[in-house]
Amino acid sequence: MLELVHVEKSYDRNPVLKDINLSIDDGEIVSILGPSGCGKTTLLNIILGITPITSGKLIYNGTDITKLPMEKRGFNIVFQDYALFPNLDVKGNIRYGLRNNPNISTPQEVEDLIDLLNLREHLDKSIHQLSGGQKQRVALARTMVMKPKVLLLDEPLSALDGIIKEQIKERIHTIAKQFQLTTIIVTHDPEEALTLSDKVIILSDGRVEQYSSSQDIITNPQTDFVKDFIIQQLQVKRSNIIGLFDERAV
Ligand SMILES: Nc1ncnc2c1ncn2[C@@H]1O[C@H](COP(=O)(O)OP(=O)(O)O)[C@@H](O)[C@H]1O
Ligand SMILES: [Mg+2]
Repeated sequence: MLELVHVEKSYDRNPVLKDINLSIDDGEIVSILGPSGCGKTTLLNIILGITPITSGKLIYNGTDITKLPMEKRGFNIVFQDYALFPNLDVKGNIRYGLRNNPNISTPQEVEDLIDLLNLREHLDKSIHQLSGGQKQRVALARTMVMKPKVLLLDEPLSALDGIIKEQIKERIHTIAKQFQLTTIIVTHDPEEALTLSDKVIILSDGRVEQYSSSQDIITNPQTDFVKDFIIQQLQVKRSNIIGLFDERAV
């Protein structure tokens, strides 16, 4: 279990995260949902260990990891821009982390991941030959072969749309559940958060507005922000879709 206890973060005395208290169970998929600038990436980077906190504590399975450097936490991240290595081909990128730690994943596990993410036909390609969705899948594979205890994803679907987006969303869900990965996903899209994760952290202006299951957020929004921002966006989206069907019907 990962716990954040009274976590605060300020930049130049400017508070960005305020009294964050959360606990995330092993194997759970949790989304961090909120508008641009509310502190989502900062929160993810704090969990990863590349951004120090101003006050509070991080506890992982009973151990205080607040001051533990990133490489000792055993967590891993897929950054929003993928950050693939352009000088390596697809298979080189996927196996990169295993160079010095070849036993983290067995050759069979690497092969399984390649198939699960539909990357077999792309293994010899260079990165610039790939589409956005393919790059995203390579970034996921490269991170997942390292079997992170906690997998962090920053806006993993924001550069994708349509069927590709749905497919990758499904893959992330399947792999997270199959490998029992604790997965924390940053998104600004309520629909994505509510359909992909077991629980959703709704963040506004550096505060947690609500942290509960998707069902609970929809049926029991606890603050005006959740009602006005989250629920309303979902309703607008739904009415757009229904509107489309109505137009086609007439
Ligand atoms: N390194 C930094 N130095 C100063 N301010 C920062 C830094 N990183 C983020 N911020 C500020 O913190 C706030 C939250 O940023 P961020 O966590 O990136 O939000 P989000 O990911 O939700 O869009 C923003 O106001 C941003 O300008
Ligand atoms: Mg961000």
